[in-house]
Amino acid sequence: MSSNTLDRSLVLDAVRVTEAAAIASWTMLGRGDEMAADQAAVDAMRNALNELNIDGEIVIGEGERDEAPMLYIGEKVGTGKGPRIDIALDPLEGTTLAAKAQPNALTVMAWAPKGTLLNAPDTYMDKIACGPGLPPGVIDLDRTPAENVKALAEAKGVPATEITVCVLDRPRHAEIIAGLRSVGARVHLITDGDVAGVINTTDPSTGIDLYLGSGGAPEGVLACAALKCVGGQFQGRLLFRSADERARAARWGVTDLDKKYDLHEIVRDEAIFAATGVTRGGLVDGVVFRDGCVHTHTLVMNSSTGTVREVRMKRKV
Ligand code: FBP
Repeated sequence: MSSNTLDRSLVLDAVRVTEAAAIASWTMLGRGDEMAADQAAVDAMRNALNELNIDGEIVIGEGERDEAPMLYIGEKVGTGKGPRIDIALDPLEGTTLAAKAQPNALTVMAWAPKGTLLNAPDTYMDKIACGPGLPPGVIDLDRTPAENVKALAEAKGVPATEITVCVLDRPRHAEIIAGLRSVGARVHLITDGDVAGVINTTDPSTGIDLYLGSGGAPEGVLACAALKCVGGQFQGRLLFRSADERARAARWGVTDLDKKYDLHEIVRDEAIFAATGVTRGGLVDGVVFRDGCVHTHTLVMNSSTGTVREVRMKRKV
């Protein structure tokens, strides 16, 4: 599989797609209707993808064909005349945030050469992540939260009390949170949006050292695409809530259901990652309509070139 598949011109194409989804979902911002906000993003993302000269296939999308009429897993998008790519997307990451007009709602997408992204089913995933520049293996999903904090603190040369861990604020994480606090770590709780939660570990200005806890498996793949571009460590293990979810995973080619995946097994080649803000957040600013123009802010990265760009778009409406 050649990394050249990801021509650098694709970077701006990816930005156009996440921008379109962000603008569309913004129209439903704060209206208390999660489904409508998501649908607006899905429609816009699909239309934008179908205008591009790519031979794309959705590997992480809105669900299986029988439950998602658009952007379902396996759907072909693009004109078909262009590079063959795997597409992972979350047209609206943080549907509740958008419905309540709260910060950190994003539109997110990743592209990789055909056949190189993990076809993760729509289950949960146990996740652990930290930023770049640390010894390989410093964090491990099979260690306790306290052990991970201590190892990270030692590698960073700081006491455990100076380690901040981002965790989704869910009752299922009570034990993790207690374990983290038992060694004095700070716990930064978020209500939603673990793609940004993971990416924040790579940016020292966020103050987040570690991400821990379970969230959507698709979001795990998207976050890995971002880490592939900026560095960092990630491990994930699929979590199944039913026999049906296990059967789905098997259908998508997952043979070892208990496997602990490393970042490079989830994103096996180069990747492009793009995220546009719907509402203002730590990663990017939100959509703004002002003086007859729409403004967007996008973070876009390309692992082939190691480039990280912030793109601000302004267009008359
Ligand atoms: P949605 O946009 O699909 O609502 O996902 C938001 C999110 O917070 C993800 O970032 C996270 O992976 C997942 O939900 C966690 O799931 P749950 O809300 O069931 O704990």
